[in-house]
Amino acid sequence: MRKQMPDQTDLQSHTPNPLYKQVGRKLHERVIQYAKPDQKLPSLRQVSERFDISLSTAQSAYQYLIDQGLVVVRPRSGYYLPKQVVPSTLQPQIPAANPAAERVNVSELMIHMLSLSRQKPVINLGTAVPEPGLLPLEALAKIQRQISRKPQWAYGGYSPVGGEPLLQQALSQHLQQREVHCTPEQLLITNGCTEALRIALGECTRPGDVVAIESPTYFTILQQLESLGLKALEVPTSPETGIDLDHLASMMSAIRVDACVVNPVGHNPLGFVMPEVQKKALIELCYRHGTRLIEDVIYLDLSYTDYHVRSLRSLDTYGIVSQCGSFSKSLSPALRVGWLLPAEDTHSATARKFLNNVSVSTPCQLSIAYMLEQGLYQKSVRKNAAQHKNRVHQTREWVLRYFPEGTRVSLPQAGFVLWIELPEPFKAISLHERALEKGVMFLPGDVFSPTSDLYSRYLRINCCACPEEEVLEGIKRIGRCF
Ligand SMILES: Cc1ncc(COP(=O)(O)O)c(C=O)c1O
Repeated sequence: MRKQMPDQTDLQSHTPNPLYKQVGRKLHERVIQYAKPDQKLPSLRQVSERFDISLSTAQSAYQYLIDQGLVVVRPRSGYYLPKQVVPSTLQPQIPAANPAAERVNVSELMIHMLSLSRQKPVINLGTAVPEPGLLPLEALAKIQRQISRKPQWAYGGYSPVGGEPLLQQALSQHLQQREVHCTPEQLLITNGCTEALRIALGECTRPGDVVAIESPTYFTILQQLESLGLKALEVPTSPETGIDLDHLASMMSAIRVDACVVNPVGHNPLGFVMPEVQKKALIELCYRHGTRLIEDVIYLDLSYTDYHVRSLRSLDTYGIVSQCGSFSKSLSPALRVGWLLPAEDTHSATARKFLNNVSVSTPCQLSIAYMLEQGLYQKSVRKNAAQHKNRVHQTREWVLRYFPEGTRVSLPQAGFVLWIELPEPFKAISLHERALEKGVMFLPGDVFSPTSDLYSRYLRINCCACPEEEVLEGIKRIGRCF
């Protein structure tokens, strides 16, 4: 029998991914990303021998890379890396944020953006949800069939306000693996992370209070501040290390900051994971100033690292961090299940939850409890994080290739969105209008800040919104709008 080369054994025949794409990706991972500009690449014959594939499959693999702008072909000479290699290290810049705390007013802009996207079918790179193929939906459907065999339990009454004990138990065990120690009863099960954030903010603020937020930040946090009558203090935030602690410290010395909301792991839209030393320093700073810390850890299970990254709550020795999370990005946004682990009194948060909407759907909570108990959730998030990482890196290269020179792109460490800075004089809102004409949608940077014009040259795209061919098509179409 012929001995198999390592590159051949990596290829899988039982996957929906055609062989030529698998070879294209392996070539990229093992050869192209280490090659120099203009370097000659292996010939078709060499690729065919290395992967034990036909010459025509090798040719399709190269064509796949050419379509993505990663390789060029020179007639009668072979395949090469392009002369100009796209820069891969430039992260978006951080503009100076508004130094004053202000009332927020973003909802109208958000509603306008969302209504535009409904006008005609689009490649939607705007919404931050992975395509269904990147969620464990088959496993979930199987679990739900098991649950529907116990209709009295699942559908016959209201779930307890605090949450289904089975989910509270499974979730507290899951969080324990991440060094977050709590009893099942301390966890309040909520309708997604959105409700958890709202209750957490309601618990530690009153209308008119000042809340420090990262700039840019996830727009629903802004909408919550707006509807609770809170003032936002924007703090410049690095795409590598997170919220600027020196800036925050000087603001805290000047004015009273009642709460601080951060998204420390897989920040939306920047994608960074805050280094542990920064996380500890943030906790210290907030403790010294008597400021409540709220962390949104919706991407905690989706970081690209092999080890578990720490949440603020797992590092908090003072009892000042409330943790908000959900399964919307890692399992299903439709289940609408999240959690709040309050800094202190779960009873008071539970009373707020009751006023909002009594409790969370029982079958949805049970589905997650079973997925956790059977280890199906844990298996799927590991796989999905690796898929997100590949897609994000690939999409990053496409953006740098098809967008104008001078474009800067974030380098995420978790999640699946990219934050893009356009060079002068481009504006994201007018680009958004032109892209919609071409059937592509993304989110302009303007919705990520309460200060108008601060992010007018920035935009966010979801790299996993649809199959990669469609994402590439979307990027190419946006590229034609400049
Ligand atoms: C950082 C962040 N927090 C919260 C949410 C909303 O979560 P949920 O759908 O669980 O309410 C999102 C969704 O995009 C998000 O990106």
